[in-house]
Amino acid sequence: MHKKLFIPGPIEVHPDVLKAMATPMIGHRMKEYAELHSRVTSGLKKVVLTSNKVFLATSSAFGVMEGAIRNLVGTRCANFCNGAFSDKWHDVTLRCGKEADAIKFDWGTPVTAAAVEKALSTGKYDSMTMIHNESSTGVMSPLDEIAEVMRKFPEVVFIVDTVSSMSALKIPVDELGIDCCIFGVQKAFALPPGLAVFTANDKALQRAAGMKGRGYYFDFVEFAANDAKDNTPSTPCISQIYALDCQLQRIFAEGLENRWARHKNLAGYVRGWLTERGFTSYPADPYRSLTLTCSRNSRGIDLATLKKNLAQAGFAFDDGYGRIKGETFRIAHMGDMTHTDLEELFSAITTILPELA
Ligand SMILES: Cc1ncc(COP(=O)(O)O)c(C=O)c1O
Repeated sequence: MHKKLFIPGPIEVHPDVLKAMATPMIGHRMKEYAELHSRVTSGLKKVVLTSNKVFLATSSAFGVMEGAIRNLVGTRCANFCNGAFSDKWHDVTLRCGKEADAIKFDWGTPVTAAAVEKALSTGKYDSMTMIHNESSTGVMSPLDEIAEVMRKFPEVVFIVDTVSSMSALKIPVDELGIDCCIFGVQKAFALPPGLAVFTANDKALQRAAGMKGRGYYFDFVEFAANDAKDNTPSTPCISQIYALDCQLQRIFAEGLENRWARHKNLAGYVRGWLTERGFTSYPADPYRSLTLTCSRNSRGIDLATLKKNLAQAGFAFDDGYGRIKGETFRIAHMGDMTHTDLEELFSAITTILPELA
């Protein structure tokens, strides 16, 4: 039985998008691919609001997150860490042999502009990484305030993971001055996993061009050279790019403003449902994610049993990530999800736990 996905990625994929993946194959050096590539990258630029380069990488998001480190970190990187994925990015930075410091925040709290300013004012760093939407804790950091601070440090490359937020809300990459913005497609884009997208402006590409040890697979300079011909350095996941092409048409048919509003409404609905039943939020209020809600297990529910029973009823439910598993649970509300989908989940939960009705 297929379990309907309410985990924070992968997310349910629309049948039209799945169908697009079955489009007969083409060669990536054929003109048909160049046309597809050009159409998809142009569409993505409209979603992420950039006039800079947008690249397609055949990997999960961490492939490009590692690539960004190899291409963009020169002397030393400030890794801002407020959850499991940002902690892991720091580890990846060190594993790439780069000098780096982890600037740590308590789990459940955001990266702050003040902390960014304090760290970068030391003059030690030529690059910084942060995660906009920490999926492990459901915290959305104030990107606009941080971007404001980043303007004071033009020598520092600003690298942002928007893996679980891009397309669910307005993230104007150029206006915010993000030099390299990275996201996967299995979250708010609601595509099957396996494709990652990243932007790079001139500053990022210049930094990459002078960097030793970029490797090959994620060499940003190779990506730029190939993109100039509407192509990729190595064979891309063409089926997924067909899926993205289809999903972009669906996103534009809904309208970006409507998509952003739908995500905001769904977040409000989930938060309200949980609050009415005595659950408190793991993150503090203004920093709650718009794509997934991370709730404290305030009512001491046996989450493992709930997850098992929901699975039997046809729903995939998440009982917390990493060291806050069991203490918290997460409900995703992103991609193509509607109010009705979430009502279905809540109805299944209350059937299993009538005390929550
Ligand atoms: C915020 C964030 N960053 C990075 C990742 C890693 O993405 P991937 O598994 O596609 O490498 C995830 C995955 O859930 C995530 O939520």
